[in-house]
Amino acid sequence: MAQTSWWQRGIVYQIYPRSFMDSNGDGIGDLRGISARLDYLHWLGIDGIWLSPIFPSPMADFGYDVSNYTDIYPPFGNLDDFDHLLEEAHKRDIRVILDLVPNHTSNHHPWFLDSRSSRDNPKRDWYIWRDPQPDGSPPNNWLSYFGGAAWTLDEKTGQYYLHSFLPEQPDLNYHNPEVKQAMFDGIRFWLKRGVDGFRVDVIDRMIKDELLRDNPLNPDYVEGRDNPTGKYLRLYSENRPGIHELIREFRAVFDEFKDRVMIGEIAYSTDPSLICGFYGTEQAPEINLPFNFAPLMLPWNAAAFRQFADAYAATLPAGATGNYVLGNHDQTRVGTRIGLPQARVAALMLLTLAGTPFIYYGEEIGMCDVAIPPHLYQDPQGINIGISRDHQRTPMQWENTPYAGFSTAETWLPVAPDYPVVNVAVQRGDPTSMLNLYHTLIELRRVTPALHSGTYQSLAAPEGCFVYLREADLRQMLVALNFTNEEKTITLPRYGKVLISTHLDRVETGTQLTLRPDEGVLVEL
Ligand code: GLC
Repeated sequence: MAQTSWWQRGIVYQIYPRSFMDSNGDGIGDLRGISARLDYLHWLGIDGIWLSPIFPSPMADFGYDVSNYTDIYPPFGNLDDFDHLLEEAHKRDIRVILDLVPNHTSNHHPWFLDSRSSRDNPKRDWYIWRDPQPDGSPPNNWLSYFGGAAWTLDEKTGQYYLHSFLPEQPDLNYHNPEVKQAMFDGIRFWLKRGVDGFRVDVIDRMIKDELLRDNPLNPDYVEGRDNPTGKYLRLYSENRPGIHELIREFRAVFDEFKDRVMIGEIAYSTDPSLICGFYGTEQAPEINLPFNFAPLMLPWNAAAFRQFADAYAATLPAGATGNYVLGNHDQTRVGTRIGLPQARVAALMLLTLAGTPFIYYGEEIGMCDVAIPPHLYQDPQGINIGISRDHQRTPMQWENTPYAGFSTAETWLPVAPDYPVVNVAVQRGDPTSMLNLYHTLIELRRVTPALHSGTYQSLAAPEGCFVYLREADLRQMLVALNFTNEEKTITLPRYGKVLISTHLDRVETGTQLTLRPDEGVLVEL
């Protein structure tokens, strides 16, 4: 088997720093808090943590609006706290991946303050400024992902600036080489410090149409039914031809260092050729792991997953590693989307498919979305267009003590009411808990080359079941997932031994097995 890097075999765990662990009792998480929970992560068995943004930020979009790329947001700690976290993580063989937000800065970033100060400021061209149309309206019809126009008029200089997201998040102009160099220096700052890689935010949106042409109407859009931000197809504002060259330049910066990983957030798509188009080639590499969000988008049924996984495996370029994402800080939690019994099936699938698994904090204990009334929304997307991401960003549930062991004070978002039973401490002691399912599956994946690096092939299965084989070094693992709440009988290609069931109560051998409702099993053939 070819020599592979940790991120090809391993598992990445996403931490939303504001909600993971509060070490100083201010109700929001911080870096010392994360360090204090590394032993837990080590026990869980993951290989890397990705931290959502930790750089200084006015928090208009909770850190996705950066005002300084080379420091730490003070409520999270400082560079010493960061170095401590990095060192402690590395001691436990846990790699640390940061979140880079290069498409836009905060409107408080000194670059933008300079840029907006006058039309002839040397940094004017670092952002995207245009004159109003003759009637005073914005330069084109592009819409912000967070509602309203993607342009805001700066009264003082009489021009509009582009912001794909909030007005507090002006887009940088990557047609300007100085912008690239400034961002590359920011990346080097962290890679030199020992950071193992970056997850790069909206990486496919960094290049815009140079003519800033109007986007065409989306023919499927229905007023009143659909999210108004989807009224136009983003033909000219994302995934423009020049993006691949720019990504290759970013990648070259990563490759100045040994064994660093570049993960990229690209458009949410179930089209394998779109996802796979971002790997580049051996001679001109691009993203190591372009996110595969298909599991978040596909209807939860076996046929859809089989069809996607087959097409994805067939489309991946030679030598490339796939990945699967079940949840993140932008999406409804998996337990809420498909229910907890099926979330266990999803866990078995995530941890046995071919591709690096991404786990969103709390998924491993079955945390679900938390009801939060609109008047308490913190997320600008919730405030502006009613689709709040606060529900999936609530504090991690550690134990049955006030504030779930996350903090000692009122927390920035409410703690889920189910925390007395849904928490790490209780579940560690319960042999059939979601946490012990994750823990056992992670351990199995880690010690089984067929699972972390083997081939993938799906097999014919009864309706409602997704069955596949993973194989390496002549060891064959069969995974049978029952996506339904009815019993299903599977005939194995030969005699096999059940290694684990999602119900954590079954060890048996045979050539036929009956899956109970909502059950998945891993069988060694
Ligand atoms: C990405 C992030 C999201 C953020 C947006 C703007 O989609 O995941 O949380 O709001 O980019 O930076």
